[in-house]
Amino acid sequence: MPTQRQLFLQHLAQTSDFPLALEIERAEGIYMYDAAGKRYADLISGIGVSNVGHRHPRVVAAIHDQVDKYMHLMVYGEYIQSPQVRLAKMLADLLPAGINNVYLTNSGTEAVEGALKLAKRYTGRTGLVTFRDTYHGSTHGALSVMGNEHFKNAFRPLLPDVQILEYNVTSELQRITPQTAAVIVESVQGEAGYQTPCTPWMQALRARCSEVGALLIVDEIQTGMGRTGKMFGFEHYGIVPDIVTLAKGLGGGLPIGAFAAPAEIMGAFKSKPILGHITTFGGNPVCAAAACAVVEVLSEGDLLAAVPAKHALLLELLQHPAIDRVTGKGLMLAVDLRHFGFNKAVIDRCLEAGVITDWFLFNDRSLRLAPPLTITPEELRLHLQTIVACIDAEWQARGKSHGIWP
Ligand SMILES: Cc1ncc(COP(=O)(O)O)c(C=O)c1O
Repeated sequence: MPTQRQLFLQHLAQTSDFPLALEIERAEGIYMYDAAGKRYADLISGIGVSNVGHRHPRVVAAIHDQVDKYMHLMVYGEYIQSPQVRLAKMLADLLPAGINNVYLTNSGTEAVEGALKLAKRYTGRTGLVTFRDTYHGSTHGALSVMGNEHFKNAFRPLLPDVQILEYNVTSELQRITPQTAAVIVESVQGEAGYQTPCTPWMQALRARCSEVGALLIVDEIQTGMGRTGKMFGFEHYGIVPDIVTLAKGLGGGLPIGAFAAPAEIMGAFKSKPILGHITTFGGNPVCAAAACAVVEVLSEGDLLAAVPAKHALLLELLQHPAIDRVTGKGLMLAVDLRHFGFNKAVIDRCLEAGVITDWFLFNDRSLRLAPPLTITPEELRLHLQTIVACIDAEWQARGKSHGIWP
């Protein structure tokens, strides 16, 4: 009789030869439990998803409630489905005035596809601008605006007219021109290792887009839903985007994404041709009901208000000579450990000790920390102690140096 692990390796498509292959049986709050009953603290929230923790009771109740009413009825946008309507209204209320129209998708990459198409359709232009080391998803359009040649080159030809600028460099903004349909930017660069831009640069970017009539798409897929301590990351910079993309934390563990824009812009999907973006499952009512519960939990509670103190606590706890620097905002922190080999060894030690961390797609020397916003200060202290102990054990094992792997 083959084991689950054997079946996993044999039949489930792999995208690397070294999947983590943890066999988790259940998850609750910040913890996951494997088949042998071992407990893991999930300090990356399943990569930025479980912002309200795993199986938040309000999310689970909303799912049960909706499953008892209906699941799929019709392709997106035709019937009035109350979870979709409620979610759109809640998001419109949270977003800046004017961003009042929401298109619900299945995933982050689909939200990005929709946003790019909308910008091209609304402006009648084709140029797209993105930034070095930015990640917006893995489908062809999103891949086209990825700021990393290594991961996209093998899939060319991709979309034409894409320019990659340096992030947070003001002189680069002149390359945004009247031919530019849209600029897509993250309010904290996720896969680059939580790099934060400065406020004057974000404001100059906003001003340059307005000057040349390009739409500013802010990708809040990883930074949104409270991750940085604000509901949306762009709120830190005093700017208002034209289009906002969301996913990951939005569904509280179920797959849903969204892109939001003023109704006047979104209206471009209605004609020449009609049905400018089509999706069968986008905004699935069960997922939308879960998302409504997430938005309620994040809007009512003190989860967001507690983020700055937890951020400060993390910085206080992350002290060790092996740490070069810590970057990021709110509860998305990158701990720079200088070398991939050292970082990987620390991540493995943490896993062994029951704490889940990770590295970043475009920055493998930094350790990723993005715990659920529901984590308590006591839990943070407990698990950060483990992480620092793992850093120290690796540091001692290498004669108090980072060494070069292997
Ligand atoms: C900033 C950003 N945009 C888009 C995506 C793509 O989202 P998804 O994996 O749901 O397609 C991600 C996923 O990591 C992301 O971090």
